[in-house]
Amino acid sequence: MQKLIIQGGVPLNGEVVISGAKNAALPLLCAALLTQDTLKITNVPMLQDINTMLALLRQMGTRVDATPPMVELCADSLIHLVAPYEMVKTMRAAILVLGPLLARAGEAEISLPGGCAIGMRPVDQHIKGLQAMGAEIAIRHGYIHAVAKKLHGARIVFDIVTVTGTENLMMAACIADGVTVLENSAREPEVVDLAECLIKMGAKIRGHGTDVITVEGVAALHGAEHAVMPDRIETGTYLAAVAAAGGNVTLTHARADTLDAVLDKLTEAGAAITRSTGTIGIAMNTRPKAVNLKTAPYPAFPTDMQAQFIALNAIASGTGIVTETIFENRFMHVQEMLRLGAKIDVEGNTAIVHGVERLTGATVMATDLRASACLVIAGLVAEGETIVDRIYHLDRGYEKIEQKLTGIGARIERI
Ligand code: UD1
Repeated sequence: MQKLIIQGGVPLNGEVVISGAKNAALPLLCAALLTQDTLKITNVPMLQDINTMLALLRQMGTRVDATPPMVELCADSLIHLVAPYEMVKTMRAAILVLGPLLARAGEAEISLPGGCAIGMRPVDQHIKGLQAMGAEIAIRHGYIHAVAKKLHGARIVFDIVTVTGTENLMMAACIADGVTVLENSAREPEVVDLAECLIKMGAKIRGHGTDVITVEGVAALHGAEHAVMPDRIETGTYLAAVAAAGGNVTLTHARADTLDAVLDKLTEAGAAITRSTGTIGIAMNTRPKAVNLKTAPYPAFPTDMQAQFIALNAIASGTGIVTETIFENRFMHVQEMLRLGAKIDVEGNTAIVHGVERLTGATVMATDLRASACLVIAGLVAEGETIVDRIYHLDRGYEKIEQKLTGIGARIERI
């Protein structure tokens, strides 16, 4: 099993080029299922989750021509309308094929995702929405069996804000009969990126980026070309790393406008942030100040940045209170942080992080994607050597992480 070995205590200086967003690329690839024509997606990050999605789309009959960072997909004949357990269990986002498949082919069989390291994560909202649009859905042998001769428009009010739920129903509604109104929709920038691509494909969507999205169904979508937006979580992770380790770094191919809540917290922690088109600069030359934060749907502070800010608070002056409101079990990294000398108490969905002067290197184990990022940041600031085990989680979401970190002076290698 691969590990990362990090020698901590080195400030970070230089430039990092940000990759395309994993969470935008995954639904964009699925949009190819909605048309017989070719969909060309550029700026696709080469990550394990992307490979899994491409394998899933291929086994459904999609022709995939991948010349990174560009992927061309053509789903002119769908032969296998199934997402098997083996694929869904490694990547929950596989649920994103449900809406497009059902809308285009009238049928889909998708394994239920089950629990994962950060909580239960049910898909009831996806199912409820598709039922409102006329689908007949049964759960049998661990699979969602969905059938619909032709989906029709409906008014759907989500009980909770769900990102992939909004994306799934928005895609299905594009080629359903009539008008679909999605209320209490997710406002995440990745939803907007998907809507913009669907509009290029001929979809009639308005309200994306607000909590009411209206989709007027059209008979068919056509081919298009779309560039994946920059990864705001990758961007935020490098920013948090610099805020913790100190230094001066410029992030290019980034979008500051998608990161307001994170940039505000970094400023509060003492970092000097500069923004210009496509670029974010960060300079940090003091010990960070602890910050309080609460995760919530966009535009509030993202749950996918919570773990990285636990690492930042761990070495900050003062005490930071971190409340997680999206996932019920997303403090798995805290136990590992304690092994590095952090002082953190967890009470329910709140972590009270008492900043310490220094962390000390140790062997730690990554438990999920963003927890891994937290441990890497901790390793960058810890005294001596930190070994991060089980880094396959990291490879699901961070393109070329050790090259990018080495490029700004970190001492990190993969064994
Ligand atoms: C997406 C992101 C993930 C991020 C999360 C929250 C992708 C591929 N992944 O995941 O990185 O952490 O948004 O920003 O974009 N829920 C239900 N029923 C449902 C659907 C969701 O109860 O049918 C709950 C979930 O358990 C969770 C909350 O709603 O507590 C938000 O989940 P959701 O936004 O759906 O997360 P994902 O779309 O899976």
